[in-house]
Order: sequence, then C-alpha cells, then structure tokens
Amino acid sequence: MSDASDAGHVTIEIDGRVLSVRAGVPLGAALHAQDRVLRRTARSGEARGLFCGMGLCFDCLVTVNGREGVRACVTPAAEGMRVETGRP
Ligand code: FES
Repeated sequence: MSDASDAGHVTIEIDGRVLSVRAGVPLGAALHAQDRVLRRTARSGEARGLFCGMGLCFDCLVTVNGREGVRACVTPAAEGMRVETGRP
C-alpha cells in the first residue's frame, strides 16, 4: 500500500534488503546512501566509493535481476529491481 509519501519512490531489493528509493536514482547512489561498501582499496582493504561514477570505469558492477555486469552508477532504480553486490 502506498501513500503520498511514497510518490516518486520505488521498492528495490539490495542483497536481500528491501528499500524504498527515489525512482530513477542511480543504483550506485542508492548503495552509497545505505552505507553499503561496494569496493575496497587493493592495498589496505579500506572501504571506498565508486571510482568514476559516470559509467566509464566498470568499477561498480552488480547483478540486477540475474543479469551480471550491470554498472550501478548509471543504472536507474526501477520498481522491483533485485540487486546483488556480491558483498556481504
Ligand atoms: S563507477 Fe565507474 S562505471 Fe560505475
């Protein structure tokens, strides 16, 4: 059931967690807003953000609805998306 506060939002699932996000927001931004660690530095293993954030580096690949290799930074959130990051 939705109400006025849900207007413009969609429900997606990220690694099994159901979220309401603004429709069309890039999945990379949705992940960042959830404090999800998508990548870590090679040397220290410290959490880091996306590299380019504009679809050029392929650093942000996730699986969406079973399709692998989707760039999270340029893929808009849509109703019912199931996103898997491969990260716990
Ligand atoms: S962060 Fe570079 S392609 Fe997504």
